[in-house]
Amino acid sequence: MKNEYLEIIGGNGLFGKTEVYSAKNAVLPMLAGAMLTSEQVTIKNCPHISDIQNMCRIRDLLSLETHWNGRDIVAGGKLVENHIPESLSGAMRSSVFMLGPILSITGEVKLHTPGGCKIGSRPIDIHLQGLEKLGAKITPLNDGVLCRADKLVGNEIVLRYPSVGATENLIMSAVLAKGNTTIIGTAREPEVVSLCRLLVAMGAKIEGIGTSVVKIKGVEGLSGATITPVADRIVAGTIILATALVGGRVTLIGCNPEHLGAMMTKLVSKHFLAIDDSCGMTVEGDGVVEPMEIASGPYPKFPTDLQPILTAILTYANGRSVVEEKVFENRFSYVSELTKMGGKIAVEKDKAIVDKSELFGAEVTAEDLRGGAGLVVAGLKAVGVTKVKGVEHIDRGYEKIEYLFSSLGAKITRKKF
Ligand code: UD1
Repeated sequence: MKNEYLEIIGGNGLFGKTEVYSAKNAVLPMLAGAMLTSEQVTIKNCPHISDIQNMCRIRDLLSLETHWNGRDIVAGGKLVENHIPESLSGAMRSSVFMLGPILSITGEVKLHTPGGCKIGSRPIDIHLQGLEKLGAKITPLNDGVLCRADKLVGNEIVLRYPSVGATENLIMSAVLAKGNTTIIGTAREPEVVSLCRLLVAMGAKIEGIGTSVVKIKGVEGLSGATITPVADRIVAGTIILATALVGGRVTLIGCNPEHLGAMMTKLVSKHFLAIDDSCGMTVEGDGVVEPMEIASGPYPKFPTDLQPILTAILTYANGRSVVEEKVFENRFSYVSELTKMGGKIAVEKDKAIVDKSELFGAEVTAEDLRGGAGLVVAGLKAVGVTKVKGVEHIDRGYEKIEYLFSSLGAKITRKKF
């Protein structure tokens, strides 16, 4: 909520067990993929976070059935509407996932991208070029885009970049297309794999899941299914990085260590251990962070979504670290806030050069989801009281982050202005 902030008193270690719920970035495309059938699709173990709630609201506004049953989301209903409401599509990037499924089912889809410049800064050209290859006619509008196709037809699509969203959108578009589709240069993120598993459970024919060439044989129709999506590696990674920073021992139930390989390889040292076990992974650290050089990139490289959190903890490393952002152009906006806490970080183009700092509590503002999480993690170690405003950004991806960390021993509470 906009009138809330997080108050953190730094200096406590993290100890205990926590469950990692289904990945937001798997659940969101699944809520779009569920549109490909009118039968019931159940998505299990979902976090109660605003991004997922907003995606459910878009489904509601499209007159689809979507309800929560504890942690499970039950999605159903026949898709008839094809105009993604302006009020939500502007606010939510993930509405773009609905392009393919709506087009595939209704033959037409209109997506608003208000402000015009938004499409420039967050392009969807890879999505649209792929849809054109499948036979869609794309008409740019002043306030968005209109796509039409009586029937999508399979083709070969070469992606100029392994975009996660475009890969998911195009796979969802191709599963009901006529004939065969080959998508070359696909994203290989675990969330893409998870979406494919749902589509296969619904009756789709997909080969090459998790590789960079995905082959799809179009089928006539899809049925309902139940899926437990992959656990959220970004939430898990946030907890792991926080534990490395403040020290402690935390078991992450449900976390798949393989999905964090690139980060763990750099993080594990004589000060930080990771033990895989049957229920997930346990990490243990003494609060000493080693400096490192790392670059974000498409999976299996280090995930861009953890870049702000890693940069935050590297302010405590004994020496200079260099963090390169290779996925998004503008992902260092949180650095100015970390500087207010005493962080010695210089940004040079796509690199953050991080020197050893002593962080102290300050009043800072989250401008985006993962940058906000980075500020919270910094506050867990900083000397004194940190107040993080802009909590609504953090709530998009972390279910009650204050409970998550306070249940492990941190001093963090949500307060109202
Ligand atoms: C997804 C994740 C997001 C993560 C990102 C990269 C979801 C809901 N979000 O976002 O958390 O940070 O993957 O791992 O799953 N691009 C284009 N044209 C396009 C599409 C993308 O130029 O048509 C560019 C983007 O501007 C960006 C890069 O490709 O620079 C990666 O974007 P992409 O992989 O598409 O990210 P998202 O799917 O938006």
